[in-house]
Amino acid sequence: MSDLENLLSEDRRFPPSMEFAQAANAQPGMYAEADTDRLGFWERQARELSWAQDWTQVLDWSGAPFARWFVGGRLNVAVNCLDRHVDAGFGDQVAIHFEGEPGDTRTITYAGLLAEVSQAANALTELGVQAGDRVAIYLPMIPEAAVAMLACARIGAPHSVVFGGFSADALSSRIADADAKVVITADGGYRKGGAFALKPAVDEAVEQCPGVEHVLVVRRTGQEVGWTDKDVWWHDVVGRQPSTHTAVAFDAEHPLFILYTSGTTAKPKGILHTTGGYLTQVTFTHRNVFDLKPDTDVYWCTADVGWVTGHSYVVYGPLANRATQVMYEGTPDTPHQGRWWEIVANYGVTILYTAPTAIRTFMKWGEQLPAEHDLSSLRLLGSVGEPINPEAWMWYRRVIGGDRCPIVDTWWQTETGAIMISPLPGVTATKPGSAMRALPGIGANVVDDQGRPVPDGGGGYLVLDQPWPSMLRGIWGDPERYAQTYWSRFDGIYFAGDGAKKDADGDLWLLGRVDDVMNVSGHRISTTEVESALVSHPAVAEAAVVGADDPMTGQAIVAFVIPRGGAPEETDALIAELRAHVATQIGAIAKPRNVFIVQELPKTRSGKIMRRLLKDVAENREVGDTTTLADGSVMSAISGRLAAGGGTGDES
Ligand code: WTA
Repeated sequence: MSDLENLLSEDRRFPPSMEFAQAANAQPGMYAEADTDRLGFWERQARELSWAQDWTQVLDWSGAPFARWFVGGRLNVAVNCLDRHVDAGFGDQVAIHFEGEPGDTRTITYAGLLAEVSQAANALTELGVQAGDRVAIYLPMIPEAAVAMLACARIGAPHSVVFGGFSADALSSRIADADAKVVITADGGYRKGGAFALKPAVDEAVEQCPGVEHVLVVRRTGQEVGWTDKDVWWHDVVGRQPSTHTAVAFDAEHPLFILYTSGTTAKPKGILHTTGGYLTQVTFTHRNVFDLKPDTDVYWCTADVGWVTGHSYVVYGPLANRATQVMYEGTPDTPHQGRWWEIVANYGVTILYTAPTAIRTFMKWGEQLPAEHDLSSLRLLGSVGEPINPEAWMWYRRVIGGDRCPIVDTWWQTETGAIMISPLPGVTATKPGSAMRALPGIGANVVDDQGRPVPDGGGGYLVLDQPWPSMLRGIWGDPERYAQTYWSRFDGIYFAGDGAKKDADGDLWLLGRVDDVMNVSGHRISTTEVESALVSHPAVAEAAVVGADDPMTGQAIVAFVIPRGGAPEETDALIAELRAHVATQIGAIAKPRNVFIVQELPKTRSGKIMRRLLKDVAENREVGDTTTLADGSVMSAISGRLAAGGGTGDES
């Protein structure tokens, strides 16, 4: 609560410069325009795209919570991202400046990208993929990732991109859930100064998934790969295709992609997005929140295509707006900690969109690193993925933005598809740490337990009280879970799972998740998912996982584990093994920071684990009210175990 009070007494304001404000794409009148006629406003945004057939109705909400936007309209997403720019004479404009981690580069123009996407679309068709079939994509951050997504979109085959850091198990459950027919992968990619492999995980996953007919493999690293009769090389099959492809238009509600995200149970949810509304809102937000000027800007979003930010703000939004962008394969510290700033200087990046966890890492590394590079090309900075603390915000503004760049702190989710709450860079006088307000055309509010809006100065649950064009259309294969998860907490209103506060001016401050979802370096991981990974290890009887505050990653995963058959001799070895086990089950991002071996877990009399108390311990706080515990002595035993330190197994 003291943090909250600090936030609410924040009185620094950063209005845009006059020069920025005058030239900005988004002008102040946009809010009133959208308030007067919300659907008319979105209809005008949709008109910025190229449609093959007009819609008959902007929004059909009669089947709530299942929305249909731009009913009856038809369009092709890839045509909007590529063909229309080439047709308008921009074929020679650079779409992607690719920089591989080892330092190799590729410059891809819009005409070049269209040719590659056409070839890939032809290749997928040859492999038997038809409109409606699902394609899984498991690739590093290389141009082929964008090509593969756009090729799928072009032929109406919904893609399911799986982050390259996920394990074979996580991959196979996602392939199986979406019943993907083809998997697109690579031999590997480059990270942290070396080649990592992707193909072995695919081989393992495909063995579990008989429905997969073909695996299309990009050669990136040239490392040895195992080969089965389902495998085909990308350069063979895509390479020999004609570089033209006639696209057909799809219904506005045709599925565009599925993206799995963690919920409060162990089973990830396949979030479904469709075509017309999604593209309308990502294009609108990308143009207005980032103030994109296609003729002069060089845009760089550092997100991986495996996350929703990579879908909406690396692939679809920027390309629909004819952006020139940078795509970087590797980590920020390879071969040196100034790599990002070198990239900004080399390409003259004007707009940078990244995550608070990265900003805090750079703060730790010191301001001399960015100072060694010319960052004067930057004119706007964005943040996404978790609440940005005012200190990191101020550092970002001063050290990276030279005190001249507006910062847009953008709140949204995999489910929302596009940015929902954010400053408009030429309009809003920003406050360090606040995402400010809902964008024009978006309805957001903070409500209490009963669903009543809280007054200014109050806190509660963040809700979205109007349907929006890029909203999820459901959870793949589970309409019941969709309605239950998002629309049942408050009647007819979307509950986002986040806590938030309105300050005295009514501006919004995001406070993190209020459910059992952790946010580690901007990545969503559910406590239950990690718990079930832990209990799948033969040495574990029971496990409880909490997200503890962490100065670098926002939250860190802390696990409490009861071993089978009493305390083991060698706890350090077991801890190391359990951390590695979670990494194989889910992926390295889900590896607990600490694993504590305990003899009991705090439970209520009805047997529910009291995570709140474990969180107190994990965050070194005095343990809260324990009166509802079945066994009151449990917490002192656990606290004693923690005071002894450790829990990382390798002391890293
Ligand atoms: C959190 C990422 C505070 C939030 C686009 C949300 C944020 C979850 C912000 C979605 C922000 C995202 N300020 N919190 N600007 N942006 N979040 O689905 O808890 O990976 O519910 O989408 O990240 O994470 P997801």
